[in-house]
Amino acid sequence: MKFGYFDDANREYVITQPDTPLPWINYLGCQAYFGIISNTAGGYSFYRDARLRRVSRYRYNNVPYDLGGRYIYLRDDDSGEFWSPSWQPTRPDLEDYTCRHGLGYTIIGSRYSGIEAHSTYFVPLDEDLEIWRLAVTNRRSQPASLSVYSSIEFCLWDANDDATNFQRNFSIGEVEIEDGAIYHKTEYRERRNHFAYFACSRKTEGFDTQREAFVGPYRGWEKPLAVERGKLSNSVAHGWAPIGAHHVELQLGPEETQEVIFLLGYHENPQEQKFDPPASQTVNKKTVKPVIAKYLNFADVDAAFEKLRQYWDGLLAVCQVETPDVHTNRMVNIWNAYQCMATFNMSRSASFYESGIGRGLGFRDSNQDLLGFVQMVPARARERILDLAATQLPNGGAYHQYQPLTKRGNNDVGGNFNDDPHWLIVGVAAYLKETGDWSILDEPVPYDNAPGSEQPLYEHLQRSFQYTLDRLGPHGLPLIGRADWNDCLNLNCFSDTPGQSFQTTTNKDGKVAESVFIAALFVLAGRELAEIARRRGRTDEAQRYLAEVARMEDTVREQGWDGEWFLRAYDDFGRKVGSKECAEGKIFIETQGFCVLAGIGLDDGRAQAAMESVAKHLATGHGIILQQPAYSRYYLELGEISSYPPGYKENAGIFCHNNPWVMIAETQVGNGDRAYDYYARINPSAREPISELHRCEPYVYAQMIAGRDAPTHGEAKNSWLTGTAAWNYYAVTQWILGIRPTFEGLEIRPVVPKGWRGFKATRLFRGVTYIIAVTREGEGNQVALKVDGEPWEGTVVPAPVEGQRAVTVEVTLK
Ligand code: BGC
Ligand code: NOJ
Repeated sequence: MKFGYFDDANREYVITQPDTPLPWINYLGCQAYFGIISNTAGGYSFYRDARLRRVSRYRYNNVPYDLGGRYIYLRDDDSGEFWSPSWQPTRPDLEDYTCRHGLGYTIIGSRYSGIEAHSTYFVPLDEDLEIWRLAVTNRRSQPASLSVYSSIEFCLWDANDDATNFQRNFSIGEVEIEDGAIYHKTEYRERRNHFAYFACSRKTEGFDTQREAFVGPYRGWEKPLAVERGKLSNSVAHGWAPIGAHHVELQLGPEETQEVIFLLGYHENPQEQKFDPPASQTVNKKTVKPVIAKYLNFADVDAAFEKLRQYWDGLLAVCQVETPDVHTNRMVNIWNAYQCMATFNMSRSASFYESGIGRGLGFRDSNQDLLGFVQMVPARARERILDLAATQLPNGGAYHQYQPLTKRGNNDVGGNFNDDPHWLIVGVAAYLKETGDWSILDEPVPYDNAPGSEQPLYEHLQRSFQYTLDRLGPHGLPLIGRADWNDCLNLNCFSDTPGQSFQTTTNKDGKVAESVFIAALFVLAGRELAEIARRRGRTDEAQRYLAEVARMEDTVREQGWDGEWFLRAYDDFGRKVGSKECAEGKIFIETQGFCVLAGIGLDDGRAQAAMESVAKHLATGHGIILQQPAYSRYYLELGEISSYPPGYKENAGIFCHNNPWVMIAETQVGNGDRAYDYYARINPSAREPISELHRCEPYVYAQMIAGRDAPTHGEAKNSWLTGTAAWNYYAVTQWILGIRPTFEGLEIRPVVPKGWRGFKATRLFRGVTYIIAVTREGEGNQVALKVDGEPWEGTVVPAPVEGQRAVTVEVTLK
């Protein structure tokens, strides 16, 4: 069953009923000011950091799940009836409803009692504000007297404190009202120089800024007293809960449309110009007023919306494909790329499953996110790499997370996740391959943000590599530390105390438990580093890296192979994890995918055997399961992985993040049919027809789909913010379709299904547009290239002469 449809021409997903199985959300803003918006206008906004600069309030884990947001109420002033045109919170029986989630905007349209309303929500490029543009049309045969009420609940900035510190917070709320605009200025009197504002394009009949005055005692957003009564009380918040609400009257003749703009924004003043007059406590509005005036103007709003559309045209034009499969086209051309922007911006901080106060930007996550993002805005990828590297520790390790506002490593979580440092090499390599900008390696970057500790980025990569060599275990494999990619394989944790974090509790000295996964990552990253070194003329270093990589490969072959698949780890007792000798958790996906992806076992049959084992033991119709058999009880020595009931999350869930590793591995062993088949199984668009089972949005990947051991096998959870976005984009574009940036240039080496007659693509790479046409002649993966009509040896297309902007590449697959 579907709850909407893809409008590919407009690049929108159109939801046609408001009660989707879960809130289906979208992101507004892609630079500094961000909002999350659901298909019923739920959600919130923040400036840069969802924890520290939360503009509007949102209550997670609410009942119903999604309540609180950018709510507009319409009221028929003749009958007194009122309703929410976005369905929530009053949940009327709408005559018609559509929600169009587009790229950076959402339009919710509905009709009730002959009154049509369309609200367009978006954040203009380069601005710290959001626009709600409401168009109301009277489809009745009689004139209509209507009232419009806006509403937003302000957050007192620090979202964690806002949700917990009521003894203080109920007494600090402050606002100002000027010319119909509401200014939220809590804590502005002392240490903040920022405020929020909520303005309206029409003459207002009244306002409210105190929540209780608006909703009324013992009421909620579904039935605000002020709306019921048809009159706001011009309340001025002193303490308690500051909100913004306007009242606008509309007289509409039959078929007449009128529009209103509401503007919610964030603004900063220079410290010495906070007040106007300077000796007063009144917010200086000199620099914000022109911004407000501009975006309360319809022509400017039109122009800003158009600019946003063009911006996305440009970003998506970097890679467009035309394959025989509509789901591949739609995900690659639109939604997967779009999701990669969201994961780049948010890391794992703010979604409907990540509360914005839990995690900042993850070191491992953000580096991997670059794989799907770097081609879109390379300059931002560059900045991100340097920010991440600045949180690296002098010993080569890294803070596991940092806060986007401060760009400082998060001390609560700390480091010692022993895979982390290698992801920096992976991220930098992706950047170099995409851009050819080798200057980044010479950028001076501090360690732990300490002034004076700056060293070239290249040295950071060297320390990343060395970090593992300094931490080898009894089998010569890397020690795992707190965890590797699998945050829930906590082999040094041994926690039996409720409430302890599995990731940061360490009860063992960490000298025994080893990770085969990190070994594979070390091999992959080490090869990249060796190539980087070689190209910088550091041949000796390159040799040394390759020698270490070869040694590690041998170790994996000897100590990390279980007969039919790769082992996962050794625990603190030196016992195997992910072996046929284990009672449960005999085989894991991570090492099958990643060892092969890193090239281990390609020449000795291990790779092929590992892929067969995945197909036999882990693959399901809904995707590939993380491990089997699921852990049926808690294992003290394994940690969080065994804390989940079987089939969920890391305990035998279908973790969509590492499915693409297997897809890439299948391309490495030349199996395009299987690589593509795995791709299709978790492709959200392909799963759209089973939306009632899948439940999450059909236009973006979710982190997890319940595995076969779960009662809800096939149900997705934790949509949007997951490494799945970048890895699937990378797997399908670079390995299945095979359009792959390399240090040398753009390589084209597809490994696609035998049944595909071919496909087309355009790829903007280092300023040149490659127009690619692939035609299948035989059933294999042999590639013959013609570049601008001339046969070309090999698979890497040469860079064209200076000034040539487009290259045509004909590819024959034999
Ligand atoms: C989740 C992991 C996640 C970790 C982050 C765990 O509870 O299962 O997926 O990486 O928390 O701290
Ligand atoms: C989600 C985390 O963000 C990521 O860092 C981790 O690799 C996966 N969960 C697997 O545990």
